[in-house]
Order: sequence, then structure tokens, then C-alpha cells
Amino acid sequence: MFPELYKQFPGVKPHVLQALVLHVMALEDVSQIITCDRKLNYQEFSLLKHYLTEHLDGKPLEYITGKCNFYGIDFIVNNDVLIPRIETELLVERAINKIGNAKCKVLDLCTGSGVIAVSIAKYCSNAEITAVDISTKALEICKQNIQKHNVEGRIHTLEHDILKQLPSGNFDFILSNPPYIETATIQNLENSVKNFEPYLALDGGTDGLIFYKKFKEYASLVTNCVFMFEIGFNQKNAICEIFKAFNPQIIQDFNHNDRIVYFDV
Ligand SMILES: C[S@@+](CC[C@H](N)C(=O)[O-])C[C@H]1O[C@@H](n2cnc3c(N)ncnc32)[C@H](O)[C@@H]1O
Repeated sequence: MFPELYKQFPGVKPHVLQALVLHVMALEDVSQIITCDRKLNYQEFSLLKHYLTEHLDGKPLEYITGKCNFYGIDFIVNNDVLIPRIETELLVERAINKIGNAKCKVLDLCTGSGVIAVSIAKYCSNAEITAVDISTKALEICKQNIQKHNVEGRIHTLEHDILKQLPSGNFDFILSNPPYIETATIQNLENSVKNFEPYLALDGGTDGLIFYKKFKEYASLVTNCVFMFEIGFNQKNAICEIFKAFNPQIIQDFNHNDRIVYFDV
């Protein structure tokens, strides 16, 4: 079937076509197409054309199929949540290495779809996690992901504006991938981001640093806690200045961009 479709839709990347065909046929794997040995029916073909048009207009594949993979785990997404980025997997990997099997309390600020919270819950069996977001709709998706991965007992969600105050409680780890794009820069982002991903998940205020300045205040309020968060590729100097009293350590991502910051208080 695919060689025919590649000819009919030249210019569409094969992995996009494959994912959309699987989606319209409600199948999980390309091998199932081979084993079920049938072609797209009229309805499925019309739907495929509709999705391809949406995708060519900039709609991310993940929002069309309603799913994405993060840290080897399948997550539910829709346009109320950011599509998790591969850079955030580095934050999760480092956090999992630090947390291990310790019995501890973890706070995930700006949880969105819950990818950080759920990944930690799956790999750190003694961690209890509070997943916080200001968006009711994002938390709906987060709750679906919590259920999907059977970690309801260890993650609780909290709708809360973290720019107002730190959620109450004692935490051993405070993790976050906050919005960090400068407000004026958002209009220059790719269409697929600025027209489809939630503005709330992108906007880090005039200088992109509003959340980090808040984290600095919170770092002065707590003790015996590891802070670890993601930053924009060009924010290292500003971040080191904000957190200079805390001796921040920086980790670079696979593109050699400064990406993850951590320190103990
Ligand atoms: C960059 S997304 C990160 C989502 C997810 N943690 C990830 O890494 O894919 C930032 C999230 O912060 C949330 N957010 C924005 N402003 C907030 C605020 N003042 N308080 C709490 N959450 C906020 C947004 O709704 C969004 O889900």
C-alpha cells in the first residue's frame, strides 16, 4: 500500500504518512497493515487526505494522532499541552539518576501533559509526586496520562499559579520545565509552534526569565532540596546570575546547548 501512497502524496515524509495511515486505520504498528492485508477504504482515505491537509497547514502530527513518545513511554497529548521535547528527556534522565529508589517527595512545577511526573513515577518506585499546572485543561491530559500508566497512587495533581506562591509541603526534589520564551520572540517561532501549541506553555515573560526569578525566591524558602530545571539554549548567563548564590551546575544537551540547571539548597 505504501509505495502507491508515496506516489499519490509526493513531498509528504514517509514517517508522517505511515503514522497517519495507522491512525485512520486505528492500528498500532506498520506490521499490522501487512498482516491485515487490506487497503484503505473510501472513508479512511478521505480522512487521511483531511489529516494531511491539516499537517501541511502546520498542525503537528502529535496533535492529529493525539499521542507522542517521551522517554520511551507513550503519552496522550492534545493542543492544551506542549508536545514534550527531546531535550526534556535529559532533565528526566538526570532526575531519575539522582532520585533512584529513594523514598522522597518530588514537585513537578508546570507539569503540562505530566511527562516529567509520570516518567519519574514509573522509574523511581518510591517517589511521591505533586504535579502542578495553572491550566485546568492541561491537568485533564495529565490525569489521563497518570491513569494510562497506573501511577494514580503516587502522583497527585494540583491546579495552582506557581507565580503566586510555592505549593505548600516539604519536597526533596523540585523539577520544572517552565515556559521560557521571551514574549516578543513568540511571534518568530515556527507556525507549528506559535499557531498550535498553547501560548501559556511558551510565554516566559518579557525577558523569558519570570519563572526562574520565582524559583530563586522559592530556593531561599526551602532546605534539603534539589532544584533541577530546563532552560532556553541562550539563557545560561542570565540563569547563572540569577542563581549565583546557589552555585548552579549546568548540563549541556546533545546539541551542546546549555539546557539543564541544578543545585542543592
Ligand atoms: C513548557 S510547558 C511544560 C510542560 C511539560 N512539563 C513538558 O516538559 O513537556 C509549561 C507548562 O507551564 C504551565 N504554566 C504556565 N504558567 C503557569 C503558572 N503561572 N503556574 C503554573 N503553571 C503554569 C503551562 O500551562 C504549561 O503546561
